[in-house]
Amino acid sequence: MELNDTIADTFEDAGAVAALPSLQGDSGSRKVFLKTYGCQMNVYDSQRMADALASDGYATTDTIEDADLVLLNTCHIREKAAEKVYSELGRLRDLKAERAERGQEMLVGVAGCVAQAEGREIIRRSPAVDLVIGPQTYHRLPDVLRRVRGGAKIVETDYAIEDKFEHLPQPTRAEIKRRGVTAFLTVQEGCDKFCTFCVVPYTRGSEISRPVAQIVTEAERLAEAGVREVTLLGQNVNAWHGHGPDGKPWGLGRLLFRLAEIPGLSRLRYTTSHPRDMDDALIAAHRDLDSLMPYLHLPVQSGSDRILKAMNRRHKASDYLKLIERIRAARGDIAMSGDFIVGFPGETDADFEATMKLVREVGYAASYSFKYSPRPGTPGAEMDGHVDEAVKDERLQELQALLNRQQQDFNATMHGVVMDVLIEKPGRQAGQRIGRSPWLQPVILDEKAGEIGDIVKVRITRAGPGSLFAEPV
Ligand code: 5AD
Ligand code: SF4
Repeated sequence: MELNDTIADTFEDAGAVAALPSLQGDSGSRKVFLKTYGCQMNVYDSQRMADALASDGYATTDTIEDADLVLLNTCHIREKAAEKVYSELGRLRDLKAERAERGQEMLVGVAGCVAQAEGREIIRRSPAVDLVIGPQTYHRLPDVLRRVRGGAKIVETDYAIEDKFEHLPQPTRAEIKRRGVTAFLTVQEGCDKFCTFCVVPYTRGSEISRPVAQIVTEAERLAEAGVREVTLLGQNVNAWHGHGPDGKPWGLGRLLFRLAEIPGLSRLRYTTSHPRDMDDALIAAHRDLDSLMPYLHLPVQSGSDRILKAMNRRHKASDYLKLIERIRAARGDIAMSGDFIVGFPGETDADFEATMKLVREVGYAASYSFKYSPRPGTPGAEMDGHVDEAVKDERLQELQALLNRQQQDFNATMHGVVMDVLIEKPGRQAGQRIGRSPWLQPVILDEKAGEIGDIVKVRITRAGPGSLFAEPV
């Protein structure tokens, strides 16, 4: 598994929160405040829950005090993420009590991976919670809410047999437009890899791939409403497989070729991948598809063969390095990003040094690194040789210093480069806009450079640590 939980400044780390911006709901309707923790798949799921709730008369609000329903879409990937949910629930209990004193009802719901992992335990620990709903049953949300409004407490954490995607309503054209010119599209969910540190196979269930026709229809709808860039999501996105209209088995590479034919869809990305599923067709897509952006998030977790084995990654460090060589041979300008875990049980100084060595060899444009956090129920948690927190801290600092330097070096190479930038949103300062480079860097430019949704040719005039500055050419 691995769904990277941060893309540049668009997403915050797991545990950080983002409220879904509000709709212009009519004042008579019910209101939902949706807070999203964790990865991009949760961001996508929150949007689909908002769509399901819209069909049930709920408008989204970003003012929690106005909400009739507060729904937390939670993340269980590391300890801190789940603990933040429980402390948020403490605050909601107080808010709910205040509202009740004024004779107003406020329902509290927990969705996402903590909901799936903890189930009924959430209501036991936080009695203010009215409903707990796991990621596989979001299409049942309107029905669950009807029962909750009737006074029941509901825990809905089955792995549903029906296809939730088929039952979830699509967003309206106006809603897609409001969400902007880039969009996520989940094509695959769940994971059968069972890395020994990871909770995802237990929270998201076994691997499923959405059918080609469903994905193409959703992508066409997005493009028709003005979306220019689509990021395909999956915990193991490159394990996606299906059958094409040609009757042949398709992998992600073939799917990307099909999506590239959709008028208006100028940019494609996908995340997150497992090294074992990078097949030839996918590497060929990087070579042959202009619209497939030259950026690849390919987590390795560790550079030590011993630790990779204990993690059940089922490849060696040298396999990963060879793979990157092949990818770079296909697409010379591709930027690599990765995830790393330090302090996995049994990790010695020499193992950690092997990770540092691998990082030096690859040279990452971006990265996410974490201290190992034992997740209950995973094999890693039961292993011997847990590493001291202080040692984990030290290793993390050392690794992050190297990775940050690499990111800054990468950004510095952009000085003077002419590139296409997709203009995404207004800048923080008047007269500015923010766009995105092919390598996922935020690019600040003058509003005269173009409209939101335009892809414009610019020259990079300055490379800051977090973003690039550009002028039109
Ligand atoms: N402890 C620390 N990091 C973890 N990740 C997943 N599980 C754990 C854990 N138990 C990291 C991996 C993964 C990313 C999404 O989160 O690096 O790729
Ligand atoms: Fe996403 Fe769930 Fe993994 Fe968190 S635990 S990163 S929400 S899939």
